[in-house]
Amino acid sequence: MNHRRLARGERIVIATHNKGKLREVAALLAPHGIETVSAGELNLPEPEETEESFLGNARIKAMAAARAAGLPALADDSGFSVAALAGAPGVRTADWAMQPDGSRDYADAMRKVMEAAQEFEDRTAWFSCALVLAWPDGHVEGFEGRAMGHWVWPPRGQHGFGYDPMFVPNGRDETFGEMDPAEKHRISHRAAAFALLSAACLPR
Ligand code: IMP
Repeated sequence: MNHRRLARGERIVIATHNKGKLREVAALLAPHGIETVSAGELNLPEPEETEESFLGNARIKAMAAARAAGLPALADDSGFSVAALAGAPGVRTADWAMQPDGSRDYADAMRKVMEAAQEFEDRTAWFSCALVLAWPDGHVEGFEGRAMGHWVWPPRGQHGFGYDPMFVPNGRDETFGEMDPAEKHRISHRAAAFALLSAACLPR
């Protein structure tokens, strides 16, 4: 397959307005000699996420940012899935946190997930992350990673963001919220997607 690679020192847009994702994606890119600027710093608009897949929505965000900024753009679309809820909230993960005033409340979102799922014995859950790198000429590269585990209640831990405090990855006892950020980076859905992106598209 012919992947397109970024050059060392090249500047790209991180096409997200989510501070948690921005921090994690910037940390993953830091060792690779890529300069980053965020969509927020460039005042780029947030396009509507109208696709039914993580890759589809990441593609929308990456292409919109690349066109608007005239630079390659990397977008992350991710979410939390519960097996007993047929994969929900999934691509609607951020919507479950939406409040009537337009703000997002993840304590409330986690409670909604727990209330919907508590009657089921199966506690299997996972995070998915799609990373799409798009260039202003329309070329796109996309990769997806997962972290499998189970959900717990009550939420535990102050690290990370979003639904991290209610997710325990397989083989661990701590939630993502209790883990040191460097430890989460070793095993997360974002790290899994990033490893594929890195092999295909980052400078050698
Ligand atoms: P998106 O902006 O549509 O991709 O929304 C992603 C949603 O998934 C947000 O609500 C995030 O809080 C949640 N999410 C994505 N990645 C993670 C993670 O690593 N930990 C916790 N929550 C996450």
